[in-house]
Amino acid sequence: MNRLATRFTGLEFENPFVLASAPPTESKRKILKAFESGWGGVVTKTIGLHPVENVAGPRTIFQRASDVKPYVSRNKRADTVSHSSWNWELISDQPLDQWLPDLADIKTAYPTRILIGSIMAGAGNAEEMRNWQKLAKAVVDAGCDALELNLSCPHMDRKDMGANIANDEVIIRDILAAVIDAVDVPVWVKLTPSTSSLVDAAGAAYEAGAASISLCNTFPSLPLMDPETLKFEVEVDGLVTSGGLGGLAILHQALQRVCDISKAYPDKAISGIGGIRGFREAFNFIVNGAGNLQVCTAAMEEKGSGGVGVKLIKELTEDLDDYMTRKGHASIEEFRGIARERIVEHAQVRRKSDAYNGGYAAATHAAE
Ligand SMILES: Cc1cc2nc3c(=O)[nH]c(=O)nc-3n(C[C@H](O)[C@H](O)[C@H](O)COP(=O)(O)O)c2cc1C
Repeated sequence: MNRLATRFTGLEFENPFVLASAPPTESKRKILKAFESGWGGVVTKTIGLHPVENVAGPRTIFQRASDVKPYVSRNKRADTVSHSSWNWELISDQPLDQWLPDLADIKTAYPTRILIGSIMAGAGNAEEMRNWQKLAKAVVDAGCDALELNLSCPHMDRKDMGANIANDEVIIRDILAAVIDAVDVPVWVKLTPSTSSLVDAAGAAYEAGAASISLCNTFPSLPLMDPETLKFEVEVDGLVTSGGLGGLAILHQALQRVCDISKAYPDKAISGIGGIRGFREAFNFIVNGAGNLQVCTAAMEEKGSGGVGVKLIKELTEDLDDYMTRKGHASIEEFRGIARERIVEHAQVRRKSDAYNGGYAAATHAAE
């Protein structure tokens, strides 16, 4: 019996672990290696139609924390542990025409694994809506089982793209309407975590037909400056810009956002992303409502795996299977979401005295 098999957005996954849209899924070679290693699915690096030119320097750094004079840095030091990735990489620079035969080959080689095409276009005019449709149709015709709409890239100059439009419910609805009109596969929507209106945006996406919300993309953030050299940990000609933080450092924030959405829409699907390095992080996403799990930084950091997490997927599946065997679970559905009912309003948590009234004077509150 395969306890790890999950049905998510109508698709049958051999296991719930998926490589997120990022360098681990940027090429046919890497995706084939990922499937050979056992990943249940992959979301391709985001594919678009607009010009892409990356910065003339490193696109990603991996930051580590140390116990001795604790500080976070990419600098190599003894006895450090992974803290985060920081990147300012744009979407795929491989053109759509090159992606299409690659996607077809991948699907032919691994017909039972789930291939999700991540796509991105702009907004605000009919031509951009047609671009969403063109991308959607093309990757689905090439063999993608589902789509993930990138409404979350945190470093777009274009105001009509990525995280810049994820606050706009009208745009979210328009894009979904266009894509759903063009294709007949589950459409996942990857939203930015950096907005206070996230739950409303997720609600708009679900209402407009999204099969799932994918969360989180990286958190907008700045790299650190070294006090001695006055250089940023990553810079080009002394300059830097806002990029995205991923990895363990975002785990707790990601969980909170997944839980917020899951509590607001308990019957809807969520693919959880952010800081998964092993079973314990994955478990926490599941108990907060996620039915699917995506991983990026930990796979990129694994040495000798070509950046696709060969050992990581083995460990994730073995450790989840071991846990479920010990606890007698036949499916992750048996414990998915169990944390939600114990996550309550602050005032609902017991105080030493009964007098506390949620920060309101008792009389004022009673009058409301
Ligand atoms: C170098 C790099 C490139 C990324 N590129 C994309 C991308 O093209 N599209 C996308 O939706 N997310 C992209 N992401 C975000 C990841 O898919 C993922 O949401 C994020 O890294 C959080 O997961 P993690 O904590 O496991 O790294 C990228 C992340 C990194 C580190």
